[in-house]
Amino acid sequence: MGTFVRAVRVARPNDYGWQTAALGSPQSRLPRTSTALRTAPNDVIALHSGYPDRDLLPERLVRAAFARAARTDAAVGRPPSAGLPDLQAWFAAELGAVTPEWGAPPVPSDVIVFPGSQSGLGSAFRALVGAGRPLLVESPTYWGAILAAAQAGVRVVPVPSGTGGPDPDELARTFERTGARVFYAQPNFANPTGARWSPDLADRVLGIVRRYGAFLIEDDWAHDFGIAADPVPVAARDDAGHVVYMRSLTKSVSPAVRIAGVIARGPARERVLAAAQTESMYVSGILQAVALDVVAQPAWRTHLRGVRRGLAARRDLLIGALREHVPAARLEAVPEGGLNLWVRLPDATDLARLSRDCEASGVVIASGDEWFPAEPTGAYLRLNYSGPNPGAFPEGARVIGEMLARQRPM
Ligand SMILES: Cc1ncc(COP(=O)(O)O)c(C=O)c1O
Repeated sequence: MGTFVRAVRVARPNDYGWQTAALGSPQSRLPRTSTALRTAPNDVIALHSGYPDRDLLPERLVRAAFARAARTDAAVGRPPSAGLPDLQAWFAAELGAVTPEWGAPPVPSDVIVFPGSQSGLGSAFRALVGAGRPLLVESPTYWGAILAAAQAGVRVVPVPSGTGGPDPDELARTFERTGARVFYAQPNFANPTGARWSPDLADRVLGIVRRYGAFLIEDDWAHDFGIAADPVPVAARDDAGHVVYMRSLTKSVSPAVRIAGVIARGPARERVLAAAQTESMYVSGILQAVALDVVAQPAWRTHLRGVRRGLAARRDLLIGALREHVPAARLEAVPEGGLNLWVRLPDATDLARLSRDCEASGVVIASGDEWFPAEPTGAYLRLNYSGPNPGAFPEGARVIGEMLARQRPM
């Protein structure tokens, strides 16, 4: 009854200025989003991404696994904090399969399942290093590890590394000098250098880690992306809990099924588990069930063989295109696995300008600067060959070459 007046919402500008005073300045300046995480429109040539194209994923297996998992208790139950026992057993068996006769294969209860290894890194840095304490990292290294370390407040100490892996003498000196107890590294197909440690280097690093009573956090992110070689984790040679091993399935099963296994032994395992529980309590059971379903299928091995052939062809196509169109680029080594090339450009290259110019011409690239924990020691690009539309790699390289040539004479 009566007259109703309808309120009209008036558009007004957002005003969050008060938050500046409430938040103060950040404790450490973190980059906003890594280039590797950027999504790009489908009409550009994307050489920046960290994630493989759908062509390289076991899509049929993943869809079938979701359908099956939806009918199991995993869809409604709460899994144990450390993970589904069968998935723990799978991660342990994978490392156990490459453990030498004299070694000590891990047991399922050594495994903690994480929602991706990025989360594992954060928990491991918090649990094993701690705020204000030093963490040795290879330089260059994975940008996400640099970010996770900054968030955890740990002090990153770079150790020079390259396509042959870290310099063991420098590593030993840095342990001595800093009193650090943890070294984060990627012994197989490192992101970004593609380095794969020789067995001799793996033994020397393990020897140093033992000598200093320290941990090696081994990030085996590209275990499923061997091209010319099968990765052998350093963790397989460890029998005294020095290596905390991380194996991710995010990129090989599906970016939508973020699952990683962390294998740690002794009190370190309890600390990492406590950190994981504090952060996320447990990992979605349905995602764990899907990951396990996929990797347990006989077709998984067939799929991985196809991925190996696909990556080899893509890698060689991009290398050939760079040789033809970017003669000033130097590839220090052809990676035997992984998803990217680490390409050195002339020292005077203005990488920010090159990235802008390439993007304006429809090619997205990632400046290597993001992979350096301190000042970059050269002008590098990280070019991913696992993205969409490999047929466009020659055109992508042509654009990079043209934009680089515009910077000369510098
Ligand atoms: C070296 C390295 N470690 C860890 C990760 C993160 O893995 P996830 O997606 O499982 O969190 C990545 C992803 O790019 C990586 O390159």
